[in-house]
Amino acid sequence: MRRSLLRLLTGEREIRLTSAVPSPDDLREKFKEIDTFGLYVHIPFCEQICPYCPYNKELFRSDLADGYVRAVKREIDLYADITAGKPVTSFYIGGGTPTTMLQSGLADIIGHARETFDLQCDIHMESHPNHLSAANLRAIKSLGVQHLSIGVEALADRHLKTLCRPYTAGQVKEAVGRAVSYGFQCVNVDVMFALPGQTYREIEETGHELVTLGVDQVAAYPLFLFPYTPMGRTSGTRGHVIRQSLKRRRMMRILERIFYQGGYERTSVWAFTKRGAPRYCSVTVPLYLGLGASGGSYLRDVFYLNTFGVAEYVHALEDGRMGIALSVGLTERMQRAGWLYWRIYETRFRKADYRDRFGEDLDAAYGGYLRLARWLGLLTDDGERIVLSDSGAFWLHACEDLLSIGFVSTLWGASRRDLWPERAILS
Ligand SMILES: C[S@@+](CC[C@H](N)C(=O)[O-])C[C@H]1O[C@@H](n2cnc3c(N)ncnc32)[C@H](O)[C@@H]1O
Ligand code: SF4
Repeated sequence: MRRSLLRLLTGEREIRLTSAVPSPDDLREKFKEIDTFGLYVHIPFCEQICPYCPYNKELFRSDLADGYVRAVKREIDLYADITAGKPVTSFYIGGGTPTTMLQSGLADIIGHARETFDLQCDIHMESHPNHLSAANLRAIKSLGVQHLSIGVEALADRHLKTLCRPYTAGQVKEAVGRAVSYGFQCVNVDVMFALPGQTYREIEETGHELVTLGVDQVAAYPLFLFPYTPMGRTSGTRGHVIRQSLKRRRMMRILERIFYQGGYERTSVWAFTKRGAPRYCSVTVPLYLGLGASGGSYLRDVFYLNTFGVAEYVHALEDGRMGIALSVGLTERMQRAGWLYWRIYETRFRKADYRDRFGEDLDAAYGGYLRLARWLGLLTDDGERIVLSDSGAFWLHACEDLLSIGFVSTLWGASRRDLWPERAILS
């Protein structure tokens, strides 16, 4: 099923990433055709490792963090020359847990990025609820972070316990309330649903509490089980998967109703943003550079990924090499399918944007699929704009489960097993 979907969308049987990586000269050449780009910095440290988490991270150590700051600054210097002063129009700091480095180098990294690149944007950053004291919130704002995301995960003690989160529901609500009162442009909270044993009543209460807390955005993800995580390794049978999928759908319906009544609108498959508030999101421009261990970069016809090893990344940069471990060239058809996937993921886009990007009419390329999707009630098309419906969002989620979660598991799993892999094949 996954292969057929891949074939249908990209015309490829498989996507093959190899260790043949672009040189600084190749990248310099690519930037000649790029007007603006986004910046992602990965902070691969956490104070504890959660059993469900697929991201690249290790336990925080101050000695490792010092080397990491030096390495990221070197990587910034390498790209300074390549990007040749082109403006940065989106800046995201993710992890891991960026706030583990609040007192150990985060300001240094951001300061260096500001001195080196032409930053024409605010900063979006992820944070852990236990790091949101009044003093830390002041420090975060002083870094220029205007869009803050908090990993809340659940608002009931028993689920926080299952997830091994190191706080109570009372403590996390206090932290969110404090952040909301600090005048950020956008406070986003991440929550997970369809947790083991979670009831519909509980998810209803969670939805109402989030609206009452006054957050600008909620990103609500069903618990995905990645096979290389401790919780993923113990996941269930086929019957369990079907039951789980029905539960996710019913829970998402409950959340949709509560957020729409509360004045929020859907702004991505998983996110609901208060009407009028700016959206919190990881990548707001189609082209981006990913810095740090496991940072991924997408530059029109190439995608590449840094090594996942923190020490390996630091060594590479100390040796004057780039941290890139894997790359793949993208055919025109893959670029189109990828562009369309992300625009639909954001739930709405203008057809003219597709024409501007690819120089052809969207209907000429995908008219048959769009008509079918419209007939099935998955989207609306007023001739200028495509807007995904709630049922379209659910089915996109199903495709995401089938395609991207499988790809992420393969790619990230391979990159964690071997820090300089020969290849990774997604099929
Ligand atoms: C990098 S973490 C957030 C910041 C911080 N590290 C923390 O845990 O508070 C990003 C978010 O991804 C979501 N996430 C992580 N693992 C997930 C999984 N297996 N399924 C669904 N969502 C997940 C969680 O909501 C989490 O808050
Ligand atoms: S969920 Fe957050 S704190 Fe937990 S391991 Fe993942 S990145 Fe770290």
